[in-house]
Amino acid sequence: LIKASIVGATGFTGAVLTDILQRHPEVELDALTSMSYLGRRVDDVFPHLRVKGSYTPYSAERVAASDVVFVCYPHAESYPVVAECVAQGQRVVDLSADFRLRELSAYSEWYGFDHPYEELVGEAVYGLPELYRETIRTARVVANPGCYPTSAILAVAPLASFMGGYPVVIDSKSGVSGAGRNATDKTHFCSVHENFRAYSEVGHRHTVEMVQELSLLAGRAVQASFTPHLLPVDRGILSTVYVMLDADTAAEAGATERVESDNGLHDLFQEYYADEPFLEVSAVVPSLREVRGTNYCRLAARKDAAAGLIKVISVIDNLVKGASGQAVHNMNIMLGFPEKMGLEEKA
Ligand SMILES: NC(=O)c1ccc[n+]([C@@H]2O[C@H](COP(=O)([O-])OP(=O)(O)OC[C@H]3O[C@@H](n4cnc5c(N)ncnc54)[C@H](OP(=O)(O)O)[C@@H]3O)[C@@H](O)[C@H]2O)c1
Repeated sequence: LIKASIVGATGFTGAVLTDILQRHPEVELDALTSMSYLGRRVDDVFPHLRVKGSYTPYSAERVAASDVVFVCYPHAESYPVVAECVAQGQRVVDLSADFRLRELSAYSEWYGFDHPYEELVGEAVYGLPELYRETIRTARVVANPGCYPTSAILAVAPLASFMGGYPVVIDSKSGVSGAGRNATDKTHFCSVHENFRAYSEVGHRHTVEMVQELSLLAGRAVQASFTPHLLPVDRGILSTVYVMLDADTAAEAGATERVESDNGLHDLFQEYYADEPFLEVSAVVPSLREVRGTNYCRLAARKDAAAGLIKVISVIDNLVKGASGQAVHNMNIMLGFPEKMGLEEKA
């Protein structure tokens, strides 16, 4: 058995991670850290988890025996822990945004802090297994992707090399758990129930992450316009992504016929994701309930001939494929376990 610790184990992602890891056949839970619930039994705080033991404070020494450390802190709180754990030999999956962006200046611009760990940022691997499986295998730091970027990047990736010069339009709806455990005026039950709103309608932080990865996929600078919305459900993200293709580039790649019909698009997406354990290309348009509690991303692509664009609709569970399930998938790849291990039951 390998030992795994969770730093920030009482947040939404930490609790789902605890649930998945305690059922993982190759993992023994080591430290579960918390400040707010210090000394409280795990099964008192989360009775559904049936985990023995209590929450302990984080210290580098406390997690020193772990093979893997998952860091579930807010951004800018996470990087000191990641740096400390890597320095003493742990491999780390960071669920925050602190190592997702490749340009150091992007952290001050988008997240409001100066990142002091340039080398570690350079070394960190963006943890989207569908794109970076080979580098994840040997990584010391895996930057687990954001929930919205996971849903959007997977929807666009098969089309990225044929995109025209227009911005990609990403329209996403998320359940309230995406905002973390502490409720605000906007995420309070009374504000969300029977209501629906857009927020951060220009310049949401996940935009830069999407632009970074879509540009790498396309091999040139891509622009994206992203609008998140808050759905009155607890979990799940549905993204509708609008992509305009460049007919000449698609023709050069021999893809003209495939991008001209729904069936052709279906085949193109299925081929692109043929070997992926958690990607389901669907003939029917997917809905949130189909992926709830699972590590699957399910998507469907449609040709909108009249408007001259392609729509891709993708669904994930933000706490599983968008966070903790993807983190365990990354751990499985890093440690050479079967990729689906521990991820076949609902979390
Ligand atoms: N929620 C999602 O769908 C989702 C998806 C992808 C990525 N993420 C990212 O994953 C990380 C964890 O998200 P989450 O939703 O689990 O957050 P959360 O519910 O707010 O939990 C964060 C945990 O971090 C600990 N913590 C340490 N310092 C903190 C501070 N200064 N302020 C608040 N909490 C602090 C808290 O535990 P104690 O107070 O007990 O120490 C808390 O339980 C974040 O970086 C988030 O952006 C979240």
